[in-house]
Amino acid sequence: MKGIVLAGGTATRLFPLTIVTNKHLLPIYDRPMIYYPIETLAGMGIREVMVIVGGKSVGDVVELLADGAHFGLDLTYRYQRGALGIAHAIGLARDFVGDDAFCCILGDNILRGPALADTAAEFEASDAGAGALLYQVPDPERFGVAELDADGRVVGFEEKPAQPKSDLIPIGVYFLRPDAFNVIDTLAPSGRGEFEITDVLNHYVPNGRLFSKVYEGHWADAGTVPSLLRAAELARDDDDAGRLAAPVERPVG
Ligand code: DAU
Repeated sequence: MKGIVLAGGTATRLFPLTIVTNKHLLPIYDRPMIYYPIETLAGMGIREVMVIVGGKSVGDVVELLADGAHFGLDLTYRYQRGALGIAHAIGLARDFVGDDAFCCILGDNILRGPALADTAAEFEASDAGAGALLYQVPDPERFGVAELDADGRVVGFEEKPAQPKSDLIPIGVYFLRPDAFNVIDTLAPSGRGEFEITDVLNHYVPNGRLFSKVYEGHWADAGTVPSLLRAAELARDDDDAGRLAAPVERPVG
């Protein structure tokens, strides 16, 4: 399985913190934000990763992560012109992905809990076309939101609905196959002008090819000031409990 980390976007919800820098470089407790999703992919046993960069300080992102060897990864990069949405950013990785299944993780998603190697293997062995990890939140209207049937099966996702149909959201960890690029080709921009990942996931619902699972650890995105703080608190709590390994050292030069 290959990996993709999305580190584009404009991060306007964090202004003025992100006026002159890339959100994914902001500190979360003892390391830059983007270390967390990189470590999550590494924890799945993934080795080949593409980082989609865009917005501010792109060169600093590359300088920080370099070739990825200090994470045990082989990193490559692609530039996203404009913030046209998560599905658009994923579409840029088509040639990199080739014929492999892949996991895309949003560069502002902080997961603290069980490694996802088993989940990745479960997806790969299944005949699902897409996989989403779900998490219960008190403010679902801020995210994609799952709609469930009476048996608790996901019957669709809505992006930032005014009236959420549940409090379960798809977090920013998506398992996909190359077929997703064909789906992305058919998408039109949403009302907010973005190619939405929830539209990609929805494609796989009607024929029962969506894999979903509730994430059993702690999760935060770090896209708003309160969630940036919460993400740091999750890392600090893990550190206090002896569960946060020291950040990898990047060789200088
Ligand atoms: O965090 C989970 C949520 O992430 C999901 O529940 C939503 O369904 C999903 O749309 C997304 O919502 P956000 O509003 O939080 O997405 P945001 O625009 O903040 O972008 C998330 C990450 O993706 C961020 O780290 C930057 C990257 N990104 C975003 C866009 C729009 C890109 O690399 N390129 C883009 O064009």
